[in-house]
Amino acid sequence: MLDADQWAQVVAQAVRAPSIHNTQPWLFAATGDRLEVRLDPARALAVIDPNRRQQVVSCGAAVHFAVVALAALGVAAEAELAPDPADPDHLATVRVTGSREVAESDRQLAEAIARRHTDRTPFLDRPVPPGLVDQLQADVGRDGVWLKPVSREDEEAATVFLLDQVEQLEQRDPGYLAELHAWTRTDPAAHDGVPVAALPEGDRSQRPSNWLVRDFLADPAAAPASAPAASADDAPPAVERPAVLLLGTMTDDRSGWLQAGVALGRLLLQVTAAGLAASPLTQALDQAWARNRLSHRLSLVGYPQMMLRIGHPAGEAMASGRRPVAEVLTVG
Ligand SMILES: Cc1cc2nc3c(=O)[nH]c(=O)nc-3n(C[C@H](O)[C@H](O)[C@H](O)COP(=O)(O)O)c2cc1C
Repeated sequence: MLDADQWAQVVAQAVRAPSIHNTQPWLFAATGDRLEVRLDPARALAVIDPNRRQQVVSCGAAVHFAVVALAALGVAAEAELAPDPADPDHLATVRVTGSREVAESDRQLAEAIARRHTDRTPFLDRPVPPGLVDQLQADVGRDGVWLKPVSREDEEAATVFLLDQVEQLEQRDPGYLAELHAWTRTDPAAHDGVPVAALPEGDRSQRPSNWLVRDFLADPAAAPASAPAASADDAPPAVERPAVLLLGTMTDDRSGWLQAGVALGRLLLQVTAAGLAASPLTQALDQAWARNRLSHRLSLVGYPQMMLRIGHPAGEAMASGRRPVAEVLTVG
């Protein structure tokens, strides 16, 4: 049994999970030994996420963060995903099953919750240890999720092309731009939305990578960036060497989306604990036709749910705001 303060502590960790456009589309209800996680109907993204797939994935990550926070308090817990087919917005129930010894690894993962931030800046020119990717692959497999590194040259070319194509199409859609604008924040104290300060500065054509992060400040009226004049003695730019990973599931329903979210939460905390950073690249998964094309080009079995770049960070990434716990948690 946890008291109201303990549940508030756990939920304060859960809400540190990443969410599409930092919408934080979750609500929590705690009673004694259980925490229910629900999809908040008020925070939908009608254009980019009409069936709420990406928001349900976000909530899955929050479920995992809650379980990690409980473990660090010495509380063993299990998450039941999509427990009630008659109530699809009831996404998960986290049930306390007993007490447990707090291991050093529990502490490290819980500490990673506060340190993890989406890092959209270029990573260092240093490869991700292959052992880490193998470990992540095995770990998310236990959540029923597959992890595929996009590393073969032909697969990389097809994926980069698709990302770029979708980004360009989205930027020509006034509804997409209006939604993006509505969730971008210039006030660094904002409780939700993506802070402008967390976005990479400068001209995206100068990015030392072919992996384009979502352009939150897209301005279709702006003149296309012209290539800078190169001089013969210009040193070639340092090029980041991210590992690009796809997470996917065998079903494409709320259960599958939640599984992917739990795996995403697990992966991000392990990446952070290993001193690395990540940023999602989900443009190619926003739209059904692009997801299908990606599956076809990469011969995927099942459904891609999340794409991420991971790498060695060049500095500290900026934290984004969160709604106060009192706004999202009721304790009964
Ligand atoms: C399902 C999902 C999709 C996301 N897609 C993108 C994306 O395409 N580009 C991007 O830069 N960030 C993306 N993000 C990251 C969110 O913008 C980020 O989690 C949110 O702004 C909160 O910031 P934080 O992760 O630093 O806490 C995504 C996150 C989730 C969970």
